[in-house]
Formats: sequence, C-alpha cells, structure tokens
Amino acid sequence: MADPVGPVPLPWGHEYLVCPPSHFGVLYEINPWMHKEIRVDVDLADRQWHDMVTNLKAAGAGTREMEPVAGLPDLVFTANAGLVDGRRFVVSRFRHQERRGEAKHDAEWFAANGSEVLEIRGEPDICFEGAGDALPFGRSLLSGYRFRSDFKAHSLLAELLSIPVLSVELVDARFYHLDLTFCPLDSRRAIVNPHAWDRYGRTVVERLVPEPLVLELDEALSFCANSVVIGSNIVMPACPPRVGRILEGWGFDVCVSPVTEFMKAGGGVRCLTLALDTRLGRNFAS
Ligand code: ARG
Repeated sequence: MADPVGPVPLPWGHEYLVCPPSHFGVLYEINPWMHKEIRVDVDLADRQWHDMVTNLKAAGAGTREMEPVAGLPDLVFTANAGLVDGRRFVVSRFRHQERRGEAKHDAEWFAANGSEVLEIRGEPDICFEGAGDALPFGRSLLSGYRFRSDFKAHSLLAELLSIPVLSVELVDARFYHLDLTFCPLDSRRAIVNPHAWDRYGRTVVERLVPEPLVLELDEALSFCANSVVIGSNIVMPACPPRVGRILEGWGFDVCVSPVTEFMKAGGGVRCLTLALDTRLGRNFAS
C-alpha cells in the first residue's frame, strides 16, 4: 500500500559556509584522487568556485565566507570543518597531519559567529571529519567511518549531542568520506552509493531511506552524490543522464556546476560547502 505521507523537503540546506580558493592546490596526497604531478589550473578553480557560489545562491541558498589561510590548501573543503547542530558546532579532528592546522581556524570562525564550539571527548587520537562523514536523515545522523573518522567517534558524538547516530563502514578508499556516497534529497529519498559500504551499512541505509536513488559504480565515480540540495533544487558537480532523469521525475531542478579542479583534490560541491542550518535529531519534527 502506498505511503499516505508524501516526501517533505529537507528543512536544512538553506545556508552554507564556504571558503574562497585563494590558497587551494594539490600540495600533498591524502586520498586516491590527489596526485601532486597533476596541475591545478588556479584561474579555472577560481572561476568554478565563484560559479558554484552563484549557482547555490540562484538555487535559494545563503552563503557565509571564511578567510582562506596560506598553507592550508584544503580549507576550501568546509564540509570537513565540523558538524553543526543549531548553535552548537563540533569541531573536527583530522586524520592527516596535513589538515590538522585547519581546526583552529574553523573553531575561531564559529566562536566569532556566535556558536558554542564543542570537542569530541575521549582519546586524542580519535578522528572525526565533520559533515563530510555525517549527514542527517530524518532524526538520525548517518555517519561514515574508517578512512577519516573513527567508529568510536560516533558514540562520543551521540553522547555529546544526545542524538541517534547510525554508523556505516566505508570500504572503498575512492569514497573515503560519507558525502561521496550519500546525499539526502527529502524526507523519503536520498542518492546512495552502496558499493562504498559494507554489508551491514547497506542494510542500515536500506532501513533508513524508503526511496533510494541507487547509483551504479560509474555514476558514483562522477561524484554525483557529492551534491547540495536546497529545497527542490540540487547543485551537482556532475549528473549522469539516468540520475538526472530520476531526479527530474521526482520534481528536482538539476543544476550542474562543474568543479573539476577541486575533484583533483578529491572533493565536489558538497565538500566545498558546510550546511549551517542543521538541527540534529529533530529534522522532521512530528
Ligand atoms: N583533499 C581533501 C581531503 O582529502 C578533500 C576533502 C573532501 N571533502 C569531503 N567532504 N569529501 O581531505
């Protein structure tokens, strides 16, 4: 029998933190996409980033900017700054030394903008890479672990914020963050890339998402799950034809905003943004 309740648009995703790419480059290799010998076209990166911000705004999103910092080329990937829950901000603990210097700037930005900055307690070697590995769906926070965030961080996060956290193990290093494998679309739907999860993780998502848009591996490799949803608008780094047809059939307006220069560092549109309006555990209040 059909569910009498139709899909409800996401209540979050209307305001984003971004960081201009003035110091962006592929200066080290910490994921399988990064190769120091592949040159980043800095002018093109700049244009693509500004076009992305224009597209986000045209889709109805507000943006806030943080200052880029010399020597921190991946600061542009604000999704990894931490996790926002209303006025609370849990600052990330990066896996790789190369990104650890970012946390101080992220914490400072949030403190200066009126957030309470929280840290995951527990052993100092536990890693957590923010919204890149944690996306709300309904009342739950779906969280990825293994490559960048640790399983243990999830229970600490659940305790710290008093929210239900569902853990999914990431098994393919090309999809090293959850946001390369999962994109909430509305109250019932999400783009999903089960190739990147272990068997148990696939079951968790099957139970969580009533109407998944299941990607083929080649579609997932286009980074199309790394998209930003603003109501019925979706801003995507790429959109394979079948995926576009399904999204449009569901009533979404698709905007492709190429960010090829940033994909050389392993990130797409979602990675370049951090939603500032997530309120965890109560995203679809009944
Ligand atoms: N070069 C960055 C890293 O490897 C890319 C981060 C992409 N961010 C994301 N949320 N998937 O850490």
